[in-house]
Formats: sequence, C-alpha cells, structure tokens
Amino acid sequence: MDNTVTVTDNRTEKQYTFPVTHDTIRAMDLRKIKVNPDDFGMMSYDPAFMNTASCQSKITFIDGDKGILRYRGYDIADLAEHCTFPQVAYLVIHGELPTPEQEAEWLAAIRIHMGIFENIKKFMEGFRYDAHPMGMLVSTIAALSTFYPDAKNVRSHENQMHSIHRIIGKIPIIAAYGYRHSKGLDYIAPEQNLGYAENFMHMMWDRSPLQHLKHPVLARALDVLFILHIDHEQNCSTNAMRAVGSSEADPFLSTAAAAAALAGPLHGGANEAVLKMLDEIGSKENIPAFIKGVKEGKEKLMGFGHRVYKNYDPRARMIKKTAESVFEITGRNKKIDLAMELERIALSDDYFISRKLYPNVDFYSGIIYEAMGLEPKMFTVLFAIPRAVGWLAQWQELINDPEQKIARPRQVYIGYDQRPLPDSYTYGARTEEALVSTH
Ligand code: SDX
Repeated sequence: MDNTVTVTDNRTEKQYTFPVTHDTIRAMDLRKIKVNPDDFGMMSYDPAFMNTASCQSKITFIDGDKGILRYRGYDIADLAEHCTFPQVAYLVIHGELPTPEQEAEWLAAIRIHMGIFENIKKFMEGFRYDAHPMGMLVSTIAALSTFYPDAKNVRSHENQMHSIHRIIGKIPIIAAYGYRHSKGLDYIAPEQNLGYAENFMHMMWDRSPLQHLKHPVLARALDVLFILHIDHEQNCSTNAMRAVGSSEADPFLSTAAAAAALAGPLHGGANEAVLKMLDEIGSKENIPAFIKGVKEGKEKLMGFGHRVYKNYDPRARMIKKTAESVFEITGRNKKIDLAMELERIALSDDYFISRKLYPNVDFYSGIIYEAMGLEPKMFTVLFAIPRAVGWLAQWQELINDPEQKIARPRQVYIGYDQRPLPDSYTYGARTEEALVSTH
C-alpha cells in the first residue's frame, strides 16, 4: 500500500501527493498548495484543535470509542488496582515501573522536597480567608518559581528532574496549606514516614475536627483517585503546559499556567460544578425537569460528555467502584444515588445517546471527595495534585523532543483592510478636548 494521499486543487487542476504517517499528513505540506507561485500557501483551519495532533507522545494512550486509557502501555484498571500513586507517577515520568531500589530513591527524592520556605507561608497568608483554593494554588506554584532560579535551565536533564521532584513534593503541601488558611487553622508539616496521599490527609486534617478522616481505607481510596487523574494526553491543561513550556518558561510557571487552565468548569472545574448541579437538582423528582432544561440548551449536564471519550470514561467506572469502599468508612453520601439516577435517565435519553454523552472522570469524583470531608471548592485542587505529574511528564517530553519548538499558531484574518486615520485624530488636539470635557 502506498502511504500517501493525493489531492486535486480544483482552482488550478493541480495535483499534490503527501506522505501519510500515523494516519496523519504534515500540515506544513499543505503550504505547497498555491494558486500563484508567490502565495503563502494553504493552511488547515481547526478552531479548538478538534482534529489536529500537536505532538508525538509515548505517555498516554486513549481510545475514545472503546473507552480505553493506558499510561505507558499499562491499562488504567491494572494500575489503579495493583499500584500506588508514587509507583504510577514514576512510570509516567520515567516510562517504566520502578524496581524496589528505584522506588526507594524516587520516594526519597520527593520527600526531601516536601517542605516550603517560610516566605511562601507568609505569601499564602496574604490571601483572604475565602480565596478560592485554585487561585491560591495557581499563584503559589508560580511564586515558587522565584525561589528556584536553576529551574530556568530547562535543557539540563538534572535540573528537569530537580524541578519535577520539587513540584511533586510541594504541590500537596500548598494544597493543604490553602485549605488550612481558609479555615483559620495552623499549618501542619508533612511527616517523613507517611505515604503521599496519607501525608496530604495528615496536612489537611491533623489537629482539626476532621481528624478522624485520617483513615487508611480513605488514604488508599485517595491514592487510587490520584492514579486515575495523573494524565490524559493532550487535554486543555496539558496543552497549556506544552504551549507555555515551549517558550522555555520554567516548569513552575508552566505548571501554574496548566493549573489555571484546569480550573475552568469545562475542564477540571467540572467536579465542583457537578456537586453544585446535584445540590440544585436536590431530589430525584426534579431530575426530569432538569434534563428538560439541558435538552433545551439552558444548561449542561456537568460531568457528562468528553472530547475524546464517546463511550463510558473508564475512570468514571472505577471512581464509582471506589465510592463503596469510602462509604463503608464515612457513611453513604446520598448524592451518589441522585447521580446514579441522573446517569440512568440520561443514558436512556436519545439526546445524550445520539451525542454519545457519557459520565466522565468528574461526574462521581466530587461525591467521593465530599464524603471524605472535602468541600467542593477543593475538588479541582485534588485533580491538580496528581495531574501535575502528567503535566511534568508531557513538559519533559516536549523539551526533549527535537521536533518541537515555540508554539505559535497562525490565524485566518477576517478583519478590516487598511483604512486611513480619521482627520479628528491629530495628536494633542483630542487630549485638550477630552480634558475640557471632563471638567
Ligand atoms: C475533563 O480533555 C480531557 O481529556 C479532559 C479530562 C482530563 O482528564 O484532562 O478528561 C478532564 O475536563 C473532563 C470534562 C469535564 N467537563 C464537563 O463535564 C463539563 C460538561 N461537558 C461539556 O462541557 C463537554 O462535554 C466537554 C467540554 C467536556 C466536551 O466538549 P466538546 O467536545 O467541545 O463537545 P461540544 O461542546 O461540541 O458538544 C457536542 C454536543 C453539543 O450539542 P449540539 O450543539 O450538537 O446540539 O453535545 C452537547 C453540546 O451541546 N453536549 C452537552 C454536554 N456536553 C456536550 N449537552 C449537555 N450537557 C453536556 N455536558
């Protein structure tokens, strides 16, 4: 089979043949298609990158039609069931599961960075008590950049790994401190002998009325939730990480940009929006009226739909399963019954079936987080903590990819042609007139 495509430009009757690799053509090949020799040449127009591959990657594979998700070739269900978050984080960053020695080194490398400067605590004290935790997380990660100038040497592998260890080590601390600040509680330092998810819960709940939530079953549930959220190929926040990282901005600033993208309700902010939606629906009796409103375009069924998955998001299935182990400790969060009824009704309604809208990762996660004592405005922070591993793996792959350079899309200009400035715009005259009119 000849791996090429041939197109005919009907404007000129000319034919062009392009090589096909991985079922794609290079967009730059389109520039050969011209009407006149000195034309710029053809571009592809793809708002929101619906059909554009921005990179080649070995990290995560998704088959949206079959509902498949794999990190470095391992199925997400196997990883969630048999591994810990730090082991899977190592896999996503390094490409292989760690040997016991590598795991010990990895844990030690992250642990020595599980601390933050007193200046950062003072920086965080500047936020109002009701500041949104994602605003605190985004700005504090960016602020960390000012403490580690060596991170700017992004081409050095040693510095890349140093920044990766620092960010993975510090993001749960910043997340927990943001919560403690909002509650007027003192900061709790991480313990050297606790696991990653366990330490986060320790920093959140120790010496607080929710101390009882420091429970091994809940820590393992959080560990699994962290695994499920690590990476998801070229999603909106990863695209932000790669775009900002492509300018050689340091990984702290790039991670802050990615976290900012995640905060949007169409992306990682959806888990918080789902709880708000369930609270507004209130009871099963109100579901038909809500679904009617969605079908009339008045609102969205948050936690449903996905750009890639046109089948059940495999993560949603596993999160629903994890809920039962959490509820055995915390008691059943009744909102899961409302959510499951909402899912049942939606999945039997042609509006959702015809658009292939299924529950995504955000549909059930918030219900578990709430049962574990977390408030809705913390949910996206819980998404950002593990996703920082995915962002950093994607960033490192970008920096080390010889094909990549600074991201700079083109545009289709549809504005005015050149036009003369109105005579009234003579420098100085307008200022006089304006000054007069303001008195
Ligand atoms: C995440 O990309 C990733 O991988 C993201 C993520 C990750 O791990 O990084 O998986 C995490 O962000 C999950 C998505 C969380 N967001 C939500 O749950 C918000 C609600 N979902 C929608 O906003 C929407 O489904 C998106 C944003 C997720 C996907 O949007 P698309 O692919 O641009 O699809 P679309 O908006 O063009 O929708 C296609 C049709 C439209 O109807 P028509 O115009 O054809 O009549 O489906 C409808 C939409 O109106 N639709 C919905 C809907 N989602 C899509 N209708 C009601 N409720 C919804 N949730």
